[in-house]
Amino acid sequence: MQLDATIAAVVTGGASGLGAATARRLASHGVKVALFDLNEAAGEALAREIGGLFCAVDVTNEASVDAGFAKARAAHGQERVLVNCAGTGNAVKTASRDKATGEIKHFPLANFDRIIQINLVGTFRCIAKSAAGMLTLEPLVDEHGSGERGAIVNTASVAAVDGQMGQASYSASKAGVVGMTLPIARDLMGEGIRVNTILPGIFDTPLLQGAPDNVKAALAASVPFPKRLGNPAEYAHLAETMITNGYFNGECVRLDGAIRMAPR
Ligand SMILES: NC(=O)c1ccc[n+]([C@@H]2O[C@H](COP(=O)([O-])OP(=O)(O)OC[C@H]3O[C@@H](n4cnc5c(N)ncnc54)[C@H](O)[C@@H]3O)[C@@H](O)[C@H]2O)c1
Repeated sequence: MQLDATIAAVVTGGASGLGAATARRLASHGVKVALFDLNEAAGEALAREIGGLFCAVDVTNEASVDAGFAKARAAHGQERVLVNCAGTGNAVKTASRDKATGEIKHFPLANFDRIIQINLVGTFRCIAKSAAGMLTLEPLVDEHGSGERGAIVNTASVAAVDGQMGQASYSASKAGVVGMTLPIARDLMGEGIRVNTILPGIFDTPLLQGAPDNVKAALAASVPFPKRLGNPAEYAHLAETMITNGYFNGECVRLDGAIRMAPR
């Protein structure tokens, strides 16, 4: 797919970090970008900057997602591109003992479910609704005669494969995104919609901005090469490749400077 002003895109989690970088990159090609996010202030500001549209969307809420797609499509037309970046994490051990008091606790299940609902079910909800909309589109005409209707990019994490201590829910949610990538690509193959997933390593986004400088430096030093955190623009570059390279389908790709996460 060639990116230009005839293409509309939806980027979830588009107000910040990896999603914001992707929104900027798509908009730089003239793509009409709608940002789905909870963060209204950052989303509205970025929408103004890139000439896009902010939609206040909670990906865990069915009505909110429906309203977001309705608003985006009314303004830009049916999207051919969906990039799923909305997500969050937590760090809780499955069961643990307080060293000082001896108190024994386990992972609160509501907490576990919340991460699954945002990262996994929220991603699938947006894929299903976006793909249903893409089915109404005429296939694009290109030199290969592929009959492509759309392209979807999801965001998992290297934690899908090498999750650290405390990451049971986060890793499970991201492994779910990896696991559903191929079957969704197969579900949509007859309709000309490609589906791929990026597994980022450690990227310098607001997700990490709460971390102290020495922690960030230690994280950077743990990357084999290059010895630094990933730049969100590097994620956006791969997302663009997955969208524009018409032979990229059903694939999950690590983007991580060769890092393999240690247990903690
Ligand atoms: N930064 C990293 O190192 C890293 C590594 C691996 C994977 N990831 C994944 O990449 C994605 C983007 O992360 P980021 O680093 O850009 O984080 P970020 O916090 O900068 O951006 C995430 C955005 O998602 C939005 N969001 C959260 N819950 C939402 C919901 N229910 N509905 C709608 N929007 C919601 C937030 O408001 C935020 O704007 C996440 O899925 C994250 O798990 C990030």
